[in-house]
Amino acid sequence: MAPPTATQTATPAEDDIEQTVRKLAKLKPISHGFGGENASTNTGPQLEYLKILPEPARKRFEKYGIDLSKGYPVIPLPDEIPKFADEAFAIRNKDFPYVEKGKKADPEKKALLGAAKEVRHLTKHIGTEIVGLQLSELNDKQKNELALLVAERVVVFFRDQDLSPQAQLALGEYWGQVERHPQAPHVPLPEREDADEIAKGSGISVIWRKFFNEYYGLSKGFKKKQAAAGWHTDLVHEHQPAGLTHLHNDTIPKTGGDTAWASGYAAYDKLSPALQQFVDGKTAIYRSAHQYIDRANPLKGPKYIEREHPIVRTHPATGWKSLFVNRAMTVRIVGLEPDESNLILEYLYSVYEKNLDIQVRFKWQPTKEGFGTSAIWDNRISQHYAIPDYDVDEDDRHGTRVTALAEIPYFDPSSKSQREALGLSLN
Ligand code: SIN
Repeated sequence: MAPPTATQTATPAEDDIEQTVRKLAKLKPISHGFGGENASTNTGPQLEYLKILPEPARKRFEKYGIDLSKGYPVIPLPDEIPKFADEAFAIRNKDFPYVEKGKKADPEKKALLGAAKEVRHLTKHIGTEIVGLQLSELNDKQKNELALLVAERVVVFFRDQDLSPQAQLALGEYWGQVERHPQAPHVPLPEREDADEIAKGSGISVIWRKFFNEYYGLSKGFKKKQAAAGWHTDLVHEHQPAGLTHLHNDTIPKTGGDTAWASGYAAYDKLSPALQQFVDGKTAIYRSAHQYIDRANPLKGPKYIEREHPIVRTHPATGWKSLFVNRAMTVRIVGLEPDESNLILEYLYSVYEKNLDIQVRFKWQPTKEGFGTSAIWDNRISQHYAIPDYDVDEDDRHGTRVTALAEIPYFDPSSKSQREALGLSLN
């Protein structure tokens, strides 16, 4: 899909329109993607919300020297947020080097698994918990092996973690270029020398529902849809979309707030050989969570960034095929009529969403007091769903998230499905 293009030589009238749109967009940020209507003009570090920061999060930040004096979290300033879709599209719109660390790993993962007290597979097809290791103490060999383990098991969990935001960021940077979001709230860290001109954030985004509800004016009602409640995959609109995402929850409700993940390898293996053959090699259009203004039609309303990727991806570390679609952000299959695309995508989503045998639902508790729980998942081969069954006024949840971007998605026609590669029954 061709990128939206900027006007080459603007006429004075077009210049006027652009300036007007920029001014309007400064007064009200475009759209934040969390589903509420009330994007606030109150940007920068948030002193007001610092007052409601849960105690475990505050203690963690203080312990590790995060400067909260100006407020928390930090929302990019209006000048830092791209206004037009072509400006947002331009962020990271070029190839950048990616080294798949899972490919460097010992296939038996002896350094990682041998050092753990216990390795628990939570379901047959997806999800493993490692007991007795601190993520902040892993050496490079173990980090490579962890990347391979995540590539095989889709999501890996670690409880009782003493993890600074800085160490979480460094781990993400080991695995790939860390995504810095032009609109999302983030943890304050001193600006890096190599900061992107547009997306300047620290790279540690904030997952905090009480804040999302209040800042973005989302409804708290039981009947209303909550932010991140819905099957999705992160950052599929990027030129090189998300690889490993690491969410560390330092504040966890006593009951509820679970997250579910589903395996894209297993979803692909659920399809008949005929449907596998049909989807192999096809591409689809994927959209961003956040919206921007269409320069060619500024009065039409906000617009998503879109990019084209294969709907079956080959994972570079395992070589297995995975179904790369999700209900929230796959727009249409290229080459099909809209009705055909909708019908087929609906079926593919349902395979992911309805087969509980290819999902894992994880409880973030228990974790030792003063410690947090981490989940590391591979967006190339999964969807996830944050379950909002807790009341933020009684029992809040707060976490920090770092995402390493990976390769340009590709489909290798000679690659195998997971079951085929492992010699398992294909029925
Ligand atoms: C996300 O959608 O990335 C957040 C998941 C969660 O809060 O459990």
